[in-house]
This record gives sequence, C-alpha cells and structure tokens, in this order.
Amino acid sequence: MLPLSEPSFGGNEWRYIKECLDSGWVSSVGPFVENFEKVIADYVGAGHAVATVNGTAALHVALLIAGVKPEDEVLVPALTFIAPANAVRYCRAHPVFLDVDPRTGNLDPDALDTFLREECRSGDGPPIHRRTGRRVSTVLPVHLYGHPADMDAIGALAKRYGLAVVEDGAESLGAVARGKRLGCSSDLLCFSFNGNKVITTGGGGMIVTRHAGLARRARHLTTQAKADKTEYRHDEIGFNYRMPSINAALGLAQLEQLDGFLKRKRIIAEIYQKELGSLNGLRVCGETEWAASSYWLVNIFVDEAEAGISSRTLQTRLEAHGIASRPLWYPLHRQPAYTSCHAYRVETADRLWAQGLSLPSSPQLTDSQALMVCAAVREALQD
Ligand SMILES: Cc1ncc(COP(=O)(O)O)c(C=O)c1O
Repeated sequence: MLPLSEPSFGGNEWRYIKECLDSGWVSSVGPFVENFEKVIADYVGAGHAVATVNGTAALHVALLIAGVKPEDEVLVPALTFIAPANAVRYCRAHPVFLDVDPRTGNLDPDALDTFLREECRSGDGPPIHRRTGRRVSTVLPVHLYGHPADMDAIGALAKRYGLAVVEDGAESLGAVARGKRLGCSSDLLCFSFNGNKVITTGGGGMIVTRHAGLARRARHLTTQAKADKTEYRHDEIGFNYRMPSINAALGLAQLEQLDGFLKRKRIIAEIYQKELGSLNGLRVCGETEWAASSYWLVNIFVDEAEAGISSRTLQTRLEAHGIASRPLWYPLHRQPAYTSCHAYRVETADRLWAQGLSLPSSPQLTDSQALMVCAAVREALQD
C-alpha cells in the first residue's frame, strides 16, 4: 500500500540517538532537549521554545498559560483533529465550533467576526456568549494540513475583543505567512512531532512563544511545577509533560532534513495540481497568495454532482490500486464526545469534510509514484 504519510529517516538519526544513549542523558534533563528547543526557536524565529511529550500536551499547557479558566469558552475551527478540543476540555473549559474558509479549511475570520458580533454581548470585559452566559476568553486557530490560518485577520479580531490566541501549528512546521515563518511572532503556538508529521520525534511537541515569561511558565508547568533543584518542592499542580532526550535526539536529526522534506512535499503538491487541477468536479487544495504551505498532506475536493463520483468511492477505488487516501478530519461538532457543544453555522466544514480526501504526501514519494496516484484518480473518475 502506498502510504499517506510516512516518516523518512535518512539523516543523522542513528548517530544522535546513539550519542544520546552513550551519554546517559535519556530523561528530559541534559543537552539534547535544550539543543532541540534552541534549533526549533532559531528555525522558526521565535524567541523561546519549550519541548513537550506531544502536541496535545503542548496545547493543554499553552491554553492554561494563556489564561483559560474552567467554564470559559474557547473558539475552535470545526474541521480539525480532536486534540485541540480535548485540550480545551482538559482545562475544564468549553469549545465552541466555528466555520472554516472554503479554500483552506482554516478558521474563517468572517465566521469569527460574525460569531463575536451576533452571538456575544460585548462591554468593558471579555465577550459573553449570549446563549450560554459564558465568558469567551480565547481563540484557537489551527494551521490545517500545513496551510497557515489568516492570523492578520484573526489576530486583529482577537485584539479588538480582548481574546487570548493559542495557535495549533501541529501540521505546519516550516509554513510561511506573509513572508514570515509560522510561530515567529506568536504569543503561543504549538507544534506536534508525532510519527506522521512534517518532522517526527516519535512522539513530541513544542510550544513556541515570543514572551520569555510565558516560556518560563510553560517550562515550569510541564516539569511538575518543580520549584527548586534539590528539595523537590512543587509550588502548584504541574504535569509530567517534558520531552525525553531520545526523542529530542531524533528531532535534531529530523530538523536538519526539514528543508529537503518541504521542497519534496511542494513538488508532490505541484504534480497533483498540474495533473488533477483541471479535472471536472475536482479541486486540488493549493495556497492563498500570501502563504506557503508545509503541505503536510495534500488534499483534493470532489464535487460528486460534477465528478460523478463521491470522495468516499474514490477512496475505495484508490485502495483497490494499493493507494492509501483518507477523508479530512471528522468535524468536531459531529464527534460523539462533542455533540453537546455549541457549533455555529458550520456548513463549509461539513461540505469540505464530505468532499475532501488527503492523498499520499510523504517526502519519499517519487515523481512516478505521484503520477501513478494521479492516473488512478483519473481512471476512477472515468469509471
Ligand atoms: C491539528 C492537530 N492538533 C494537534 C495534534 C496533536 O498532536 P500529538 O499527536 O503530538 O498530540 C495533531 C496531531 O496529531 C493535529 O493534527
């Protein structure tokens, strides 16, 4: 089976992991985690980076230090992986699901604006959601499938309404928006280095921030809130969320190859765009004029009425050719764990989910394999 997204270990992975084992630094203490944090902060252009055990833990802590309190509401795009909604619930706050941009699947600034204007009461303090009476404290945009969300527009609305912003960049390391790498000027942005992500540490995550104080808070909370080196005094309830050194060693080797991975993914996206972009009823998700995607996964959208085939039938036909593809993230408002949460006009999220399919996008996918995928898509559409 041609996989959707496979890790690629062609660099110094073995060497750095061996160095890590030989050094005896295998826990979260020692130089590997510190180095990994430094190279990620340098690469992104963020002032500070704090490595975590995974991206979900990074989101949990980022929300806490952004000031999310129990019973707050956090605005989350309806079309994404479940982790951001779970992180909101770990804070005993409530996600509210908003609609997404039809081009990219990212949180739609117009939907955010409309929700805040029409559904909330705004006065001196934070907006209050009229239906629930709860304080809306935070917005959590996700840079979906590698394409940056429109942070200029979202950030301006957050500022106007006094909302904190926590960005989920789990899928988007290396993406660029308006000439700047994602995370370089963020209050709080979280990456994931899960096995299928742009680079992997096996499991792992990172909080990047431009604020030294928030980085200190994140490091403290992720290290069990340990308040001194020798006495093991803990001044609040923290978490064991720090990344272990072996994972950081893997990450250091992966980061050295990131530019190559991104170039390769872009070529694959271009092949899909060129070969499939003009087919009737089919759209290949590209980039807005101000963004460079990491192309974590390249998505296509199939309009059944025009293409004569649904995205799910296409998926089955590709599978028969030994090609893995996957529907987009199951919308959060449809998730059994979240049906009781409020969703506000999420029609676009539903449509993109029904029409969307992610195609094989691993950096080691060859041109001829990408062309084979395109031929299989064309054949399926003609059947
Ligand atoms: C959008 C998004 N957010 C958060 C996560 C959570 O990251 P992790 O699996 O490292 O906890 C993922 C991926 O797994 C993701 O795709």
